[in-house]
Amino acid sequence: MLDYNKILSKNVMSIKPSGIRRFFDLAEEMDGVVSLGLGEPGFVTPDKIRAAAIASLDEGKTYYSANTGIAPLKHEISKYLKRKYNISYENNEMIVTIGASEAIDIAFRALLEPGDEVLVVEPCFVSYAPTIQLCGAVPVSIVTRAEDAFRVTPEEIKSKITPKTKALIISFPSNPTGAIMKREHLEAIADVLRGTDIIVITDEIYAELTYGGNKHVSFAEIDGMRERTIFVSGFSKAFAMTGWRIGYACAPVPIAKQMMKVHQYAVMCPSSISQYAALEALKSCDEDSQKMVAEYDIRRQYIVGELNRMGLTCFNPEGAFYVFPDIRSTGLTSEEFCEKLLMSKKVSVVPGVAFGECGEGFVRMSYSNKLENIKEAMKRIDEFLHELKA
Ligand SMILES: Cc1ncc(COP(=O)(O)O)c(C=O)c1O
Repeated sequence: MLDYNKILSKNVMSIKPSGIRRFFDLAEEMDGVVSLGLGEPGFVTPDKIRAAAIASLDEGKTYYSANTGIAPLKHEISKYLKRKYNISYENNEMIVTIGASEAIDIAFRALLEPGDEVLVVEPCFVSYAPTIQLCGAVPVSIVTRAEDAFRVTPEEIKSKITPKTKALIISFPSNPTGAIMKREHLEAIADVLRGTDIIVITDEIYAELTYGGNKHVSFAEIDGMRERTIFVSGFSKAFAMTGWRIGYACAPVPIAKQMMKVHQYAVMCPSSISQYAALEALKSCDEDSQKMVAEYDIRRQYIVGELNRMGLTCFNPEGAFYVFPDIRSTGLTSEEFCEKLLMSKKVSVVPGVAFGECGEGFVRMSYSNKLENIKEAMKRIDEFLHELKA
């Protein structure tokens, strides 16, 4: 009999599966679950985008595309970034990828050598640390705190830089906290990095989802930062296109060239159908995206009010579609809270610890679900908290 433990990569075996998945799997086996667990828009992709994909099929555009993506899509991405952030990327500085996920992966694989350190601002999206570890490199946690509105501070970054630090990954608006970084906060980070060789991967997939009049500022637009920035974004969140698997990365030519090789040999190109869909999204769906944001804002205000009323202190998120309430008053760990809530009230939320150790004591709830479902979830959580106290 084969001893798979001897055969399989020790590095891969040492990586834990995503802490989010476990709860999805549990919830999937139960009836009547209200899910605030999913990190995806509660909307179907806008009609115009779906029609563009169907048209591309009808026209027989079913072949491999250029490795880095179809020219009209790259042209639209470039126009969009110029319009939004006044940053310019040329054709040879952009790669259309299979979601922001692939963009993150090829960025790390192009940069990292075994033993390199990457500063990871936590709590954060679940893929960063494992993707770094898959390169044989070391994720170094940079903690953010509710008291600082979950913003990363220059002091925290400075204190973790060593001669081995190769890169920093940031993502604002943040999954799971909903924090944003304003221009002055990004400038303070830039001040720490000037004069170093540290590359910044900035995952700005929630850029379109900001509230309260806050306009997203890109790290790439901060003075002097473009040369050290790998800009990552995608269509999943702003245009409700999670299933299409389409995103992109932009970086200076020397970096893009190496990322391009990883991309070329790993996946060749993203789905051509999804690329035509994404092209339509950028050309004509600003309004659809803004309508969804307005709807999320209503849900955001409701859920923050309810959680605070129930005694689960909740930082007021200014971006993305997540709240990250403090559950320490219950005396439960974040895993216990989620498991008990799911089993007794059939509401699924995600333990904060799934997003990094500093997420312990918090849970992530997504308000991308319909308002009526959020209301039902709040009612059940209220009952749950009362029963815990009884
Ligand atoms: C911060 C962040 N980055 C990247 C992704 C993955 O995006 P995509 O669907 O484009 O791969 C997610 C998905 O939840 C995310 O929250």
